Amino acid sequence: MPDKLILKVKDMETHIGQYHILQGVNLEVPEGHVTVLIGRNGAGKTTTLRSIIGLTPPSKGSVEFNGQMIHGLPPYTIALKGMALVPEDQGIFSTLTVEENFKIAMQKEDKVTLERKDWILDVFPDLKPKLKQKAGGLSGGQKQMLSIGRSLVNDNKLLLIDEPSKGLAPIMVETLANAIKQIKSHTTVVLVEQNFWLASAVGERYYIIDDGQTVHEGVMEDLIKDKVLQQRYLGIGTKE
Ligand SMILES: Nc1ncnc2c1ncn2[C@@H]1O[C@H](COP(=O)(O)OP(=O)(O)OP(=O)(O)O)[C@@H](O)[C@H]1O
Ligand SMILES: [Mg+2]
Repeated sequence: MPDKLILKVKDMETHIGQYHILQGVNLEVPEGHVTVLIGRNGAGKTTTLRSIIGLTPPSKGSVEFNGQMIHGLPPYTIALKGMALVPEDQGIFSTLTVEENFKIAMQKEDKVTLERKDWILDVFPDLKPKLKQKAGGLSGGQKQMLSIGRSLVNDNKLLLIDEPSKGLAPIMVETLANAIKQIKSHTTVVLVEQNFWLASAVGERYYIIDDGQTVHEGVMEDLIKDKVLQQRYLGIGTKE
């Protein structure tokens, strides 16, 4: 049986002010997998994630999440249905401790939520000794872990992660790859990622976004072999 689709985006268009930013985004995201969105700077990747969760509401098209049409709903309503966005700027509270950042994110403080927090700390063990420290003092990688971890603390079915590797050292990117592999057994992931190493290490399916449209899709193994496609849309050189 084919995997259930947790997210289906059809002909999505988004205007920001007078600008027609997204002009036809189509995505089918199977549950329990990592789907990667790639594309050049300014292609519309962030706007795609923000439009799915309702922060820049689509002007046309449909977004179906877990069997329900959600386009036009406010972001907090969509979030309560089990979707979270880990934004590019991470959005953590620097003056609060790591523990407080978790607490503030929790929709409930019941047993399962606290168990999920323990699981998150197993996925990101670096955060364990930092629980009582201010989030502002964490390293770039640890901040990214907290940002992702915080989004996992609720019973989310879908996590949208925007370029988590930005500015991280290669060793941290590897840590992130391992974490995302663990996360997908728990929550479906849509990952925007320009770091092709990370995208190909964790991604199972890919979509390429160019000029506000989805222009290619397929299984990651095919994209890894397709140097022409990589160069055309991602500006990736011959470097392995
Ligand atoms: N608030 C805004 N007002 C006007 N134009 C915007 C706004 N937000 C985004 N854009 C434009 O929309 C296009 C898509 O931007 P978006 O941030 O979605 O791209 P991206 O693929 O995430 O790029 P990057 O790789 O740099 O993060 C860009 O041309 C950008 O300049
Ligand atoms: Mg972006």
